[in-house]
Amino acid sequence: MPTRQGIRPIAAGSLYLTWSLGLAALLLSVGCFTPKAGPPPTPQPASLTSAEALSLYGRFCANCHGRKLSGGMASSLIDGYWEYGDSDAALYANIARGLENAGMPAFDQGLTPAQIHALVDLMRAAAKPLPQ
Ligand code: HEC
Repeated sequence: MPTRQGIRPIAAGSLYLTWSLGLAALLLSVGCFTPKAGPPPTPQPASLTSAEALSLYGRFCANCHGRKLSGGMASSLIDGYWEYGDSDAALYANIARGLENAGMPAFDQGLTPAQIHALVDLMRAAAKPLPQ
């Protein structure tokens, strides 16, 4: 007739086994879902986050158009006035091809179409509505 004390180590042992098997399964499943390091998948995602757009703006545009898009050496991009066309297509073209005579460089070699679209969206989102 086993006493309580005789059973206890076995019960504790199987509990421990169950626990460690569970932990191993958990670690394995976490391992499966952890993204592998390496080059980003291609093709590029169609849209960038606004944080990515803002960092592009900081790298490529802020020197001329100001940190806050409100102008500097070149005009404000958020005052609602578009001298060179105010459609999305015009904004895109002005960034991609530049405005040679006005001193705006072309960015179609340095930026992808998705990046240029993201910059158009950024300007749209930051722009104030035109005063009535
Ligand atoms: C070397 C300076 C310079 C850089 C860098 C630059 N721009 Fe410009 N940009 C200009 C100038 C100059 C103009 C034309 C005159 C003006 O609007 O001040 C212009 C005009 C524009 C216009 C047309 C504005 C209108 O009124 O129609 C847009 C849109 C624009 N830039 C966006 C950008 C974006 C986005 C970037 C970054 C990818 C950028 N620019 C980088 C100098 C620059």
